[in-house]
Amino acid sequence: MAIKSLEQPAGVGLSRIAVSDTHGEDSPYFAGWKAYDENPYDESSNPSGVIQMGLAENQVSFDILEQYLENNSTITTSSSGRSASSFRENALFQDYHGLLSFRKAMASFMGQIRGGRAKFDPERIVITAGATAANELLTFILADPGDALLIPTPYYPGFDRDLRWRTGVNIVPIHCDSSNNFEITPQALEAAYNDAVSKKLRVRGLLITNPSNPLGATIKRAALERVLDFAAAKNIHLVSDEIYSGSAFSDGEFVSIAEVLEGRSYRDCERVHIVYSLSKDLGLPGFRVGTIYSYNDAVVTTARRMSSFTLISSQTQQLLATMLSDEEFTASYIKTNRERLRRRHGMIVEGLARAGIECLKGNAGLFCWMNLRPYLKESSVEEELRLWKCILHEVKLNISPGVSCHCTEAGWFRVCFANMSENTLQVALTRIHDFVQTRTKSIHDHNGDI
Ligand SMILES: Cc1ncc(COP(=O)(O)O)c(C=O)c1O
Repeated sequence: MAIKSLEQPAGVGLSRIAVSDTHGEDSPYFAGWKAYDENPYDESSNPSGVIQMGLAENQVSFDILEQYLENNSTITTSSSGRSASSFRENALFQDYHGLLSFRKAMASFMGQIRGGRAKFDPERIVITAGATAANELLTFILADPGDALLIPTPYYPGFDRDLRWRTGVNIVPIHCDSSNNFEITPQALEAAYNDAVSKKLRVRGLLITNPSNPLGATIKRAALERVLDFAAAKNIHLVSDEIYSGSAFSDGEFVSIAEVLEGRSYRDCERVHIVYSLSKDLGLPGFRVGTIYSYNDAVVTTARRMSSFTLISSQTQQLLATMLSDEEFTASYIKTNRERLRRRHGMIVEGLARAGIECLKGNAGLFCWMNLRPYLKESSVEEELRLWKCILHEVKLNISPGVSCHCTEAGWFRVCFANMSENTLQVALTRIHDFVQTRTKSIHDHNGDI
């Protein structure tokens, strides 16, 4: 059964979905946010508070957007005649196709991020309130309650909620590990498929995140080719969540599934769907701007119908249509944002290395995948969570334990670096450094005891 029912609360009853625990929000990933909310770090007013390193938010290029909006204030003010009439248009417009100007701008921005190596047709862009809604909506379209989607681990903890909770669909993990830098192998794909079949689940699709959250690394072209061949062989869908595509900061290392399809002259493309959003690359999660780009006509039509539940306000569409169609601005934004992310990534990786901590080699995203296995007293999920609690409550850093991303190897943690100032990052690195010194001593003492 996909929906596990909890006991109904006393009094008037709620639906099975409402009381199901498949939302996954009781994971340490979300618990860490709560600890931060209760005692947030502030350089001057609360210097011993919790530093939030569990939130994949991009604030490094916010100034560029603010400056642009200030220089182009007619986009946001209502003082000119043009804006007054667009207020009326925005207030009345409610077509679920979305503004054509916005879809055109979004399609061209998605092409620009991929260096022009892939083209996107505005008619295939379906607008949604963020990638969260896009992923859920696609799941509703591709699978029935009780069916399965395969997802490589470690994966974004929000998928448990987005793909499972309301749809009643199961997630079957494709287990990847550090022996090959968490690459997706044919054996892992086959094992996950067989696992689903043995549980009598019908596999409807495979969802990859490229660049990966939480690995902070892109998926290589060869692996993408393999995944696409696997989807074809099993006759299932392939969803590629490319929400971090503009945040890949090493030149030429990000390959979109759209480029792989182009290389195959779009053969068998109707099983492929791309999810994108402006939450990460532009750092606008509050605007709730996402898209589904599908190569399948029936999926585009159905997704558009369903998008009525999760549209983007016309005002937001209009504002972004103007900004994203300014190609000179977007080109410069993409370049500077990448440079800044690369610099931040370098800072954190070097700082951690000085503390004696290694990370998976990364080239994308707003986080790195940190290996604290040497600092576990034993290799177990319980010990990983003990270490996580200690880092959260004593070191006062909210990082995400690998188990919340369904990682099967204990000791990996996701650490975000783009949602804070460089000063705060340095404070965090100093805290980690000091912690590791003490922990190393305690591990030596522990081993000495044995
Ligand atoms: C891989 C992935 N998909 C989807 C989302 C949700 O993004 P949005 O804010 O656009 O809903 C996130 C957010 O962290 C993510 O990391």
